[in-house]
Amino acid sequence: DEDGHCTFTEGQGKELHLSSEPKYGGILIQGGIVVNADMQRQADVYINGGLIQAVGPDLKVPEGARVIDASGNFVMPGGIDPHTHLEMPFMGQEACDDFYSGQAAALAGGTTMHIDFALPSNGDLAQGFLDYEKKAAKSVMDYGFHMAVTTWNDKVAQDMEDLVKKGINSFKFFLAYKGALMVTDEQLLQGFLRCKQLGALPQIHGENGDAVALWQQKIFDDGITGPEGHALSRPSFLEGEATGRAIRLAHLVNVPLYVVHVMSKDALDEVARARQAGQHVIGEAVASGLALDESRMWDPVFDVAAKYVMSPPIRSKDHGDALQAALAGGVLQIVATDHAVFNSTQKAAGRNDFRVIPNGVNGIEERLHVVWHTMVNTGKMSPSEFVRATSTASAHAFNLYPRKGVLAPGSDADVIVLDPRAEHVISARTHHSRMDTNVYEGWKIQGKVEVTISQGRVVWENDTLHIQRGSGRFVRMEPFSPSLYEGIHKRDLLRQAEAKAHVV
Ligand code: URP
Ligand code: ZN
Ligand code: ZN
Ligand code: ZN
Repeated sequence: DEDGHCTFTEGQGKELHLSSEPKYGGILIQGGIVVNADMQRQADVYINGGLIQAVGPDLKVPEGARVIDASGNFVMPGGIDPHTHLEMPFMGQEACDDFYSGQAAALAGGTTMHIDFALPSNGDLAQGFLDYEKKAAKSVMDYGFHMAVTTWNDKVAQDMEDLVKKGINSFKFFLAYKGALMVTDEQLLQGFLRCKQLGALPQIHGENGDAVALWQQKIFDDGITGPEGHALSRPSFLEGEATGRAIRLAHLVNVPLYVVHVMSKDALDEVARARQAGQHVIGEAVASGLALDESRMWDPVFDVAAKYVMSPPIRSKDHGDALQAALAGGVLQIVATDHAVFNSTQKAAGRNDFRVIPNGVNGIEERLHVVWHTMVNTGKMSPSEFVRATSTASAHAFNLYPRKGVLAPGSDADVIVLDPRAEHVISARTHHSRMDTNVYEGWKIQGKVEVTISQGRVVWENDTLHIQRGSGRFVRMEPFSPSLYEGIHKRDLLRQAEAKAHVV
């Protein structure tokens, strides 16, 4: 470029610039340790026009630029939470965080993009998408959608194609929630085949819904009506069974698969086995599964126990430990939240029957801090691995990279500054969600997101949000993500050749 720098050249210690960077105003984040998934180094980050313009050591301060001193702090890509349910109609209730309050909470915790699960309206995907577009009009940050597929017919197949054209590249299938969202194996297989045609990524909620429904009735009839019945009626091997089944059906069809909220060793073992065999399976952990344990569901105070009710259930500590190890070891790649919040009044619908406690826990605001505390402060993950799990891996899976998930010239200016020394306490009294409780209540965390920059604007600093209703953008996600689909066709050809070779 005209100032003689090497544009877009990779390499430690180099300055990276956009060729036509604006020379006036913007934000210079100075003196921090820039952390990407592939390396960390001392560098400045220059932002202007909503994009990262330059990354490098000792950048000149452009005229009119605001300087943020990040010395001693980590400068990282904003978090991407690929699993949220804002304003979700579910189990006769509506999740109490909407696209405004949920995203405000996200930004206060350093997450600058989320991917929400749009649900069909009475099985109608097109209408469901329209409903979610309306809900999202109040957004304050970047967001995308997955779409759930809850039945199968020609219209669903057509709607999937239309939605891919609109910027959706992933579809979720629930193997649980019998009588509501659950699909049969036949419907799942049809959905997998369609995803493959469209270059979309199928996602599954792995629990055997028929078995769960049967066992919920048994536990209830045995006289267990409280929240502990939720845990007892959904044993981990039912998660393992459904996860293994979906993985095998994806193998049959030769389609990549994304397993949402892996909560147990049983499901983890299925993901590990498939990956070891070379299958393209992505495993998602959620913050609650990594960091909490099931004991609180036995709390005699209903309001306390009910706030931990989510599906698949939060499990015993040995499961959580295994999930942490799997995340550190790369068997699981992503940490999301499954943020689906129902306040104490909403949860109380299940006071006399655990089966109608609306399922879901908070996390969109806490995720980065919980993962930092649980994984980085304990030495299980490096800051780069943290960035990969909380941002970069999602950008890869959903074809957002390098627009998102990396601090590099040309990428969106979604940036956080994290002070690894600052201490804070998580509490419902100070969080930004509309929830009246918090599953991490009282957690003391070392390491705090001090500044969040979203779309090139400082939206969180000095514990204060600066957000604007309606400023959020729908981010299109294109199909045929190279990291998922480059090899699929070749694998099909090899399989065909192999099958023919057996013909005498
Ligand atoms: O309990 C949960 N997970 N609620 C949200 C819906 C889902 O299964 O992801
Ligand atoms: Zn330059
Ligand atoms: Zn789910
Ligand atoms: Zn979910």
